[in-house]
Amino acid sequence: MPTVTILPSGKTVEAAPGVRLLDALLAAGEAIATKCGGEAKCGKCHVFVQEGKKSLSKTSRDENEMLDSIPGVGSKSRLSCQALLGAENVTVELLGFGSGF
Ligand code: FES
Repeated sequence: MPTVTILPSGKTVEAAPGVRLLDALLAAGEAIATKCGGEAKCGKCHVFVQEGKKSLSKTSRDENEMLDSIPGVGSKSRLSCQALLGAENVTVELLGFGSGF
């Protein structure tokens, strides 16, 4: 089972492949105030994936369009509500929440 390491807190949580990254973060106790219910429409779940990005599900067109509208996104950005865990461990940085709307 992949482990998600959360920065800057250093918390870790295990979650099964196919679980949404957002759900793993919520299970770890991170306070993520999503407004759209995981529909790639609010940008509040934006994270930077520091390690393991290739093991996540591919970025959809809707996710790309939402990311394009968020200030401060970069090549490591994902919407955690759209990224499904793969078999490998991932490390995510939550500082991106400040760059949302
Ligand atoms: S929860 Fe709204 S974009 Fe992910």
